[in-house]
Amino acid sequence: MDLIEAIKSRKSIRGYKAEPVPRKVIKEILEIASRAPSGMNTQPWEFTVVAGDVLDSIRKANLAKLSSGETPGMEVPRGGYQDVYRERQVAIGIQLFQLMGIEREDREKRTQWTMKGFRFFDAPAAIIISVDKSLGDAAQFDLGAVSQTIALTALNYGLGTCIQGQGIMYPDVIREYTGIPESKKISICLTIGYPDWDFPANKVQSEREPIENITNWCGI
Ligand SMILES: Cc1cc2nc3c(=O)[nH]c(=O)nc-3n(C[C@H](O)[C@H](O)[C@H](O)COP(=O)(O)O)c2cc1C
Repeated sequence: MDLIEAIKSRKSIRGYKAEPVPRKVIKEILEIASRAPSGMNTQPWEFTVVAGDVLDSIRKANLAKLSSGETPGMEVPRGGYQDVYRERQVAIGIQLFQLMGIEREDREKRTQWTMKGFRFFDAPAAIIISVDKSLGDAAQFDLGAVSQTIALTALNYGLGTCIQGQGIMYPDVIREYTGIPESKKISICLTIGYPDWDFPANKVQSEREPIENITNWCGI
């Protein structure tokens, strides 16, 4: 697949076919994506691939926690966005809700949508990325590089992904079913699978700020 085409066509996929992704394919993707750069070539990323019964158990446990009212949270916290960042967050939310036919006041449908996120969008597999806590915050940058590289590589195999926080917002659940130790920070995950192109949210085309608004040209 052409590189520019891949970068331009990648988008977050939130609806998947049930078809499983062979372990061999995910292994190949991870092998290729681990060519991503990292500070001092530390390669801080550690992958945990979950699928089948294990992923189903995580989904169930996530939903149980969510419906019990336990507050979800990331081990690499984000949120509390303000100003233009809040505006962009709201804009993508509005786009997704419109596509999914979810009215602002429809609490039931909003809850269903949130639950889908905590179910890893019902993807057949997910790649959880963790990092040794001794490496500190700097390693998160490297995880961003490898995440995008996984997302782009997956396209070559006809697969879609969504870099996702929701699925890992109950880290205790993830630890229980995967054995990721406390010494590792569970940083991010990617849902992965064959896109269901009939799923409305997959039609989303997220916006980007024009380059002139975010670029300071100096000496050029
Ligand atoms: C660190 C990170 C966490 C994300 N977490 C979620 C999530 O929990 N749920 C979700 O629906 N999308 C999540 N996304 C996807 C973003 O919403 C998406 O990348 C953004 O809206 C741009 O859309 P695009 O990926 O289709 O270009 C996340 C993306 C990143 C990079």
